Amino acid sequence: MRIFYFLSLFLVTAVLHSQELSLIPMPAEVKELQGFITLENKVVVMCYPETDNKQYSDVIDTFVDELKYTTGIKIKKSHPQITKTKGVPVIKYKKKGDVHIVTHVDSTMSDEEYRLGVKENKIEIYVATPAGLFYSFQTLKQLLPRNVLAGVPDKSINEWRIPMIEISDKPRFSWRGFMLDEGRHFYGKDAVKKILDIMAAYKMNRFHWHLTEDQGWRIEIKKYPRLTEVGAWRNSRVLGWGDVKPDGISYGGYYTQNDIKEIVKYARDRFIEIIPEIDIPGHSQAAIASYPEILACDPENRHEVWLWQGVSTDVINVSNPLAIQFAKDIIDELTDIFPYKYIHLGGDECPTNKWERNEDCAALLKEMGSTNYRDLQIKFYSQIKEHIAQKPIEKQRCLIFWNEVLHGNTVLLGNDIAIMAWIGANNAAKEAASRGMYTILTPQIPYYINRKQSNLPTEPHSQGTGTETLEAVYSYVPMKDVPKELQNRYLGVQANFWSEWVETVDHLQYLILPRLAAVAEASWTPQEKRSYENFEKRIQGEKYFYQLMEVDYGKHVFK
Ligand code: ACM
Repeated sequence: MRIFYFLSLFLVTAVLHSQELSLIPMPAEVKELQGFITLENKVVVMCYPETDNKQYSDVIDTFVDELKYTTGIKIKKSHPQITKTKGVPVIKYKKKGDVHIVTHVDSTMSDEEYRLGVKENKIEIYVATPAGLFYSFQTLKQLLPRNVLAGVPDKSINEWRIPMIEISDKPRFSWRGFMLDEGRHFYGKDAVKKILDIMAAYKMNRFHWHLTEDQGWRIEIKKYPRLTEVGAWRNSRVLGWGDVKPDGISYGGYYTQNDIKEIVKYARDRFIEIIPEIDIPGHSQAAIASYPEILACDPENRHEVWLWQGVSTDVINVSNPLAIQFAKDIIDELTDIFPYKYIHLGGDECPTNKWERNEDCAALLKEMGSTNYRDLQIKFYSQIKEHIAQKPIEKQRCLIFWNEVLHGNTVLLGNDIAIMAWIGANNAAKEAASRGMYTILTPQIPYYINRKQSNLPTEPHSQGTGTETLEAVYSYVPMKDVPKELQNRYLGVQANFWSEWVETVDHLQYLILPRLAAVAEASWTPQEKRSYENFEKRIQGEKYFYQLMEVDYGKHVFK
C-alpha cells in the first residue's frame, strides 16, 4: 500500500513535471531557471496599466476567471503606477500580494510577440498588443497542469506550481491556419468551437471555413434562401465512392447568420480570424441545384445536391450576368458578417467541359481574345474583384484562391490577391510569390490531415494509406529553398481537413489530433528550433489535454 502511495505520488509529480515543460508550440527562446513559484495559499495580484483598449482588460478578465475556475486561485486586479528610472520601469504596487503578475506594454515589440519571466514570486510580461498578452497567458497556462489550458477544474491537484523560466517569443508566420470542410459533412457549432479552443491553445490564428461544396451549402444567404432550403440537404448521409453507394437518408444542415456571428465572436475572443470560403464557380453543384435557372450551364436539365465524392462537372455558367450578380450579392452578405481582410473564392478543380459546350461561354471567350477556357474563370473573379473595389474602405476585402487559378491569365485579376498552394504546393507558392502575390502553404502531402494517420488495423477509413503520420506532418519544412526576395510574400502555413469520408465529430477529432499540434509548431517556431525527437517527447503530455477536452485523438502516438 505504502509503495503504491509513493509510486502514485511519483507519477503525479512526473505528470506535472512533463506538463510544466511541455510547451507547444516551442517558443522562440526559452531559458529554464532553477525552482518554482507556487500559487496556492498566496495573494496573487495582477498589475496592469489602465488603457483605452478594452481588449487588454478583456484578455485579463478572461485569464483571471479561467484561473479561478480551473484552480480555485483568486487573482486581485490592480493598476500600478509605473515610473521609469534610467529607462527601467519601476512599479509602485497599490495592493500587497505574495505573487505579482505584472503586464507592461512595450510598443517597440511586434504584434504577437511577448516576453514572459517567472521569477521569485513575480511573473513579468511584456507585450505590444492584446494578442501578445493573450499568447503570453496561453504559455503561462501551459506551464501549469493541463487542466488549466483545457479550462476544466481538477480538485485532485492542490499544488499549483509554475517553473521559473524566461521566455522571449514571437511567431515565425502571421498565418497559422486550419481549414475545415463542412460542405461534405456538417459538424455544427459545438464542434467548431472545440476546434477553435484547440487552435487557440496552440496559438493558431486563422480558421478557414470551407462552407460550400457540390454536396452541400452551409451558410444562410438572405437574398437567396433556396441555397439553404434546397442546397443544404441531400439524399444520402454517406457520399458514394466505388462500392459505397448513396444510402437515401436525408442529411444536411447549415449555419444561420446569427450562428456565424456567434462563432465570429467566439473566434475573436481567441484572436482567431475566420476566412469564409465560397467555392465558385466549380464545386458548386449544391448552389446550382438551388438556382438552376441562373447558375446552370444547362438549366433545362435536372440538377440535385451531389451524392457522390469526386469533382463534379456541373459548374456555374460564368457567362450569365445573373450568375455574376449572384456572386456579388453573396460577397455583400459575407462582408457584413465576416469583419476580416480575406474572403476565399475557391477556384480549385473546376472542369471546363460544360463551358466548352455552351454557346454563350464560347462567345465570351472569343470576345476576350483567348482560347484558354480557364480564363473565363479568371474573368468571373475579376468582375467580383471590381465589385469589391467599389466598396468603402472598411468593406474592402482581399481575395484568396486555390493555386489552379495560376493556370489562367492572372493579369486580368491583378497580383493583389493571395494564393493557397496545395497541389505541387512548393512550386505553386513560389510561382505566386514571383507574380507578386501573397501565398499560404497548404501542401496536400502531408498537410491534409483528413488523410489516414496510420496504417494500423484500428485506423478508421479516410483518404490515403496512412503515410501522413505525425512525424511526416511534423517533418515538412515550410519555405524551403525560397529566395530571400520572395520570402516576404509567404504569409504562412495551414492544415486542411476535407470531410468526404468523415461523418462524425469523433472521427474528425481523431484525424486532427495530434497532427494539428505539429502544424502549429511549424507555423510558430523558428525552423532551426524544431526537432521531431524533441516534439515527440513534448506531445506526450497532450494526451491529458485531449482527455480533459473530451476530444478523440490518435492514441497510437502516445506511449
Ligand atoms: C483542394 O484540395 N481541392 C483544394
